[in-house]
Amino acid sequence: MASPTEENPARTLLVAFVVCAVCSVVVSATAVFLEPRQRANREREREQQIQAIVARQPGLAELLEGLEGVSLEPHVVELATGELADHIDAATFDARRAANDPLLGVALPADRDPARIGRRSRFAVVYLIEAAGRIELVILPVHGSGYASTLYGYLALAGDTNTVAGLSFYEHGETPGLGSEIEEPYFLESWPGKLVRDEKGELRIGIALDEVDPDSPDAAYEVDGLTGATRTCSGVTQLLRYWLGEDGFAPFLERVRLKNEGGP
Ligand SMILES: Cc1cc2nc3c(=O)[nH]c(=O)nc-3n(C[C@H](O)[C@H](O)[C@H](O)COP(=O)(O)O)c2cc1C
Repeated sequence: MASPTEENPARTLLVAFVVCAVCSVVVSATAVFLEPRQRANREREREQQIQAIVARQPGLAELLEGLEGVSLEPHVVELATGELADHIDAATFDARRAANDPLLGVALPADRDPARIGRRSRFAVVYLIEAAGRIELVILPVHGSGYASTLYGYLALAGDTNTVAGLSFYEHGETPGLGSEIEEPYFLESWPGKLVRDEKGELRIGIALDEVDPDSPDAAYEVDGLTGATRTCSGVTQLLRYWLGEDGFAPFLERVRLKNEGGP
């Protein structure tokens, strides 16, 4: 005897269509339902990274606890001018999403894209610690291409804007044991105290190809390279120099420096 589907192929197609439709609705609904939770988890992770950077700075955690009115404040910065854009809510601004927005994002020409990110937001969320009218710590979001992924992290600078207070990566897809060493404490602990620019204003911060000779002039600016992860390391150097440069946070850092020196 012929089965019902042999008798009616249209019925087979209808059943297949209904199953596909139901499954796609379930998958889409789950994705939509989970999106706020995923976003909240990412947000929490970022917050923990920032707190970890602060906790590693000698005296800063105590400064935060000990002084009333001192806290880590998020601000939106317009990169081109370096001005604070406090009319934008830093708590909800999403720079990754903004990068792809026709108004909020800009495409980077290849010759001005050493971090190989393609596009970036015109605005960024920075975190500041201010005490007695002086900015003590500036935490900048940074990202760029590594070996196999985009590396996302935070760079903290002291109030002089030229001394690294800390570096941390909170998201990447580099190879475990090779590029992923950039998130290991021994690597991150080699950054505090490194200088960003030399006395001529040249950006010198970065990772050496090998071990840094402590007696070389580069030792003030560079940390030891990671074996087998040359491309990840070069990505870190490039992204740091991009975000600290004129197309990144340089205009903002100049304003911080002037404010701390008592300028306009
Ligand atoms: C499976 C695999 C994973 C790799 N992962 C990385 C990585 O995460 N970061 C990196 O810089 N190089 C990685 N490499 C190595 C690069 O291909 C390249 O050889 C390396 O960056 C050169 O570094 P070296 O001069 O220190 O040996 C990987 C290679 C292979 C085969």
